[in-house]
Amino acid sequence: MLNPDPLWYKDVVLYQIYVRAFCDSNGDGVGDFAGLTSKLDYIESLGVNCVWLMPFYPSPLVDDGYDISDYYDIHPDLGTLEDARAFIDAAHARGIRVISDLVLNHTSDQHRWFVESRSSRESPLRDFYVWSDTDQKYLDARIIFTDTETSNWAFDPHTHQFYFHRFYSQQPDLNYDNPRVQQAMFDVARFWLDLGLDGFRCDAVAYLFEREGTPCENLPETHAFLARLRKFVDENYPGRILLAELNEPPEQMSIYLRDEFHMAFHFPLMPRIFQALKEASREPIVRTMEAMAPIPEIAQWCTFLRNHDEMTLKLLSPQERAQMWDYYAPDTRMRFSMGIRRRLAPLLGNDYNRLLVANSLLFTLTGSPIIYYGDEIGMGDDIRLKDRDGVRTPMQWNDQPNGGFSSARELYDPVIDDDTYGYRRVNVASQQQEPGSLLNAMRQLVALRKKYRAFGRGATQFVEVGNARVLAYERAWNDEKILVINNLADSPQPIHLAKYNSHAGWDVLNLREFNFPPRAQLEPYEFLWLLLSA
Ligand code: BGC
Ligand code: MG
Repeated sequence: MLNPDPLWYKDVVLYQIYVRAFCDSNGDGVGDFAGLTSKLDYIESLGVNCVWLMPFYPSPLVDDGYDISDYYDIHPDLGTLEDARAFIDAAHARGIRVISDLVLNHTSDQHRWFVESRSSRESPLRDFYVWSDTDQKYLDARIIFTDTETSNWAFDPHTHQFYFHRFYSQQPDLNYDNPRVQQAMFDVARFWLDLGLDGFRCDAVAYLFEREGTPCENLPETHAFLARLRKFVDENYPGRILLAELNEPPEQMSIYLRDEFHMAFHFPLMPRIFQALKEASREPIVRTMEAMAPIPEIAQWCTFLRNHDEMTLKLLSPQERAQMWDYYAPDTRMRFSMGIRRRLAPLLGNDYNRLLVANSLLFTLTGSPIIYYGDEIGMGDDIRLKDRDGVRTPMQWNDQPNGGFSSARELYDPVIDDDTYGYRRVNVASQQQEPGSLLNAMRQLVALRKKYRAFGRGATQFVEVGNARVLAYERAWNDEKILVINNLADSPQPIHLAKYNSHAGWDVLNLREFNFPPRAQLEPYEFLWLLLSA
């Protein structure tokens, strides 16, 4: 049964899935909805209770489906609308919610709106997009795909005007000054909510409007539209959620969580987790968390370590970014735009304890965590592939050909097959057998995270344990209080616990009493989740 609490997203654990990469049921080399449905036992056994499916709509796939050519159908490689509905129903029957992308800012240049819009200056859909006689407008809008794009404008030779695009030139920006565009997107949202989706991961929401003399991000007009979208969802579909994808500085982020979104990805925190591990220092995390403005009680952060994009370093200073690149992306092929196109396990040197402490932070710091498919088994990446494809390779189910993903000869992208991360070594079937596997450790973290509501709902209070290489905090909700202590270093670290000596603790990871000694020593990357009794 689905958790009936309207604030279910405060206690949820999410899982991000690329349908194309998960499981191929019909042997054409591409994952599909029927394959995904057949893997629900696995998804359920992981303990996650909401999945985010990346765009599955018809698309020429210039940007892996973030260039949508029809908002009302399923990409033919992935199945039919009926297959999608069947998946949603089957997931719901197991208590698992399903959200997908709502790509608001742009469409594909193959979308019939754009085909019509570019057909002539007099087209009735001309002002669905942002056209101009000159490419010298909105010059303060930064270019996002710096590796491939040199301008946010593309020239259309047929009508002799330029159109505006924040991403690839095959992704023209919709014109939100046109009320018909706004209405069209409400219609799209309604269609999918009626079909049964539990909400949307709203793509690139900071960029909807353009205004001269501004960076064309976070504009008041954009906020006003998003507030209307929220009102529409709350009034017509209570209990469904809007999750924001926006990678903006701390002071901007929380504004979106007031009247606009139920959740937002915690982009400011994410790179600080990697920085903290690099420096073996609590400082980057504490400083960033303390800079965040409070958010309403009913809002929630979504914490993540990795996703289908590059690990973005946009919010770091140029010097910090250079240091992160040196450390985490020594091979320049690992760099992409303002970030690093690698998966979690390779980023953390495939070190089991380091991977787990990173996940301890993910599961306990603030908000609701999301796991990127494959990271729960420590999948690797393939930097030989173009763009961000190297972190979107097929899920590794077993040691059979193609890692059990597909019976086809050729896949949409090759399965990882190297000595360290290849499917023969890293796969679900073998980790299911092995009690100490990463997969089983992750299952335990998911289960415990769901058991204690303080993690999803509680306040976070950093505490000093006399060692800056150790990050400790209390999470408290009603009468539940949990002390989390993480050793960020690859060496043993002493800690002082004298102030807890009047407490009794329960070590929830190891299921035993913890009687606070005045001093203790943590093993490299060791972490403790201690339930405190008064
Ligand atoms: C998505 C990217 C995509 C971009 C343009 C992002 O926020 O996560 O994968 O390339 O939006 O749609
Ligand atoms: Mg298929």
